[in-house]
Amino acid sequence: MEVIVLPTPADTAALAADIIERLLTTKPDPVLGLATGSTPGPLYEELTRRNKEAGLSFAHARAFMLDEYVGLPVGHPESYAAVIQREVTDRLDIPAGAVRGPNGAAEDLLAECALYERAILDAGGIDVQIAGIGSNGHIAFNEPGSALTSLTRPKTLNARTRQDNARFFASLDEVPKHVLTQGLGTIGRSGHLLMLASGEGKADAVAKAVEGPLSAACPASIVQLHRHATVLLDEGAASRLTLREYYDDIWANRPAWQPL
Ligand code: GLP
Repeated sequence: MEVIVLPTPADTAALAADIIERLLTTKPDPVLGLATGSTPGPLYEELTRRNKEAGLSFAHARAFMLDEYVGLPVGHPESYAAVIQREVTDRLDIPAGAVRGPNGAAEDLLAECALYERAILDAGGIDVQIAGIGSNGHIAFNEPGSALTSLTRPKTLNARTRQDNARFFASLDEVPKHVLTQGLGTIGRSGHLLMLASGEGKADAVAKAVEGPLSAACPASIVQLHRHATVLLDEGAASRLTLREYYDDIWANRPAWQPL
C-alpha cells in the first residue's frame, strides 16, 4: 500500500489519470473499474480532457461499475448506471456496450450478482479499480460488517450512508435501502486499487482504513490487504494520518525504477 498526499483533488486526479493512461497505452484489452460519488468527478474530467485534447483513447477499453441501487426504475437519473453514462460513457470514446454495472432492476438479484462476478472474471479481471470511501468507512457499498472475502451481492444500506447520499435525491425517503455491490473479495482481486479521498469530512474514515486494524468494521481497510493499492489523498483527507511525514518522504524520494 502506498499513501500519496497532494495539495488538491485536481492533483490527485491528475496522478490517477496518469496511472489509467499508462494502462490504456500499454494493454491491448484494458479493463477499468468505475466508481460513483463526488470524489472521482475530477478524475473523470481529467480523463475527458486527455481524451478530447491529447488523443487518449478508450475505444479498446471495457469497464465494470462497483455498485448500483436496487429498486430505482431503469433510467432513473440517480441510478449509478445513469450517473456513469453521464460522467463517463457519454464523454469518452469507450463503446457504450463495453461499460457494465450490476442490474439493480433484475428480477433475480442473486442470479444477477453471480452473472456479474462471472462477467468480470471472463473479461480477465479488473486491471485498475477506482474507488472512493464513505464517511463510515464503506467502499463501494460494502457497509461496516461486510465479509472481507465477499463477492458481488445485495446489501442493506447503513442509515449514515443513506443520509450522506440523500443529497442526490429529493428526500431521504427516496434513497433506496438496498443495493448490489462488488464485494471486498471482488475488489481485492483487481490488479491495482486506486482509492481516492478528498476533504476533511473523510479524514477519520481514511485514518481508520489506512492506519487502523484490518477489520470488517471499516471495510475500506481492505486497502491494507490488497497486493497493489495506491491511496491518493488531498490535504484535508490526510489530516488525521499519524505516518504523514513518512508518506511524504517516500513520495519525495521515489526512485525512477519504482512504478506507481
Ligand atoms: C457511495 C458510493 C461509493 C462512494 C461513496 C462516497 O456510497 N457507493 O462508491 O465511494 O458514496 O461518495 P463521495 O465520493 O460522494 O463522498
